[in-house]
Amino acid sequence: MISTEQRVVIIGFMGSGKTTIAEALARDLKCEWIDLDELIGSYVKRSPDEIIRQNGESKFREVETSILRKALSLGSWRVIAAGGGAWTIDANRKLIAENGALTVWLDAPFDLCWKRIEDGGVTRPLASSREAALKLYDERRSVYELADMRIKVDEEDSPEEIASRIAGTLP
Ligand code: S3P
Repeated sequence: MISTEQRVVIIGFMGSGKTTIAEALARDLKCEWIDLDELIGSYVKRSPDEIIRQNGESKFREVETSILRKALSLGSWRVIAAGGGAWTIDANRKLIAENGALTVWLDAPFDLCWKRIEDGGVTRPLASSREAALKLYDERRSVYELADMRIKVDEEDSPEEIASRIAGTLP
């Protein structure tokens, strides 16, 4: 039986709306939330993108795993917005399972993700071109499918609608 205090980890591709939905879900559930990339920034004083550019992706993944461990064991937040690659790492999936958290995959179409990536104005090192992003998107789908819950996201859906769909299925 899943307890109502169970943590919820929002996963999905870059631009799928993880941060916005996590915030809306936390409003709905009247709980605290945290963005893993922001937590990384506050611990190491550099953004994930800076770490990837300066030290490479594998160094970033090490940092990400250690901060995810903290995010799952410390703090009073119930909802965690993960970075787009966090769920693709075995060690992170294991950590999430060990902590009994529930994962929600925001399954957004590639074109919507790409539009948001482009409009975001920040060059993400792992999505530096449409081709690179699409390749990663296709590669990651089978891993995202391992999430406990899949929520289809379309451009017309408001964050509040998506959040209430998630909240409605939580125990
Ligand atoms: C990444 C996604 C980013 C950030 C880093 C790596 C990825 O987070 O963690 O640039 O591997 O997909 P967002 O999904 O919030 O953009």
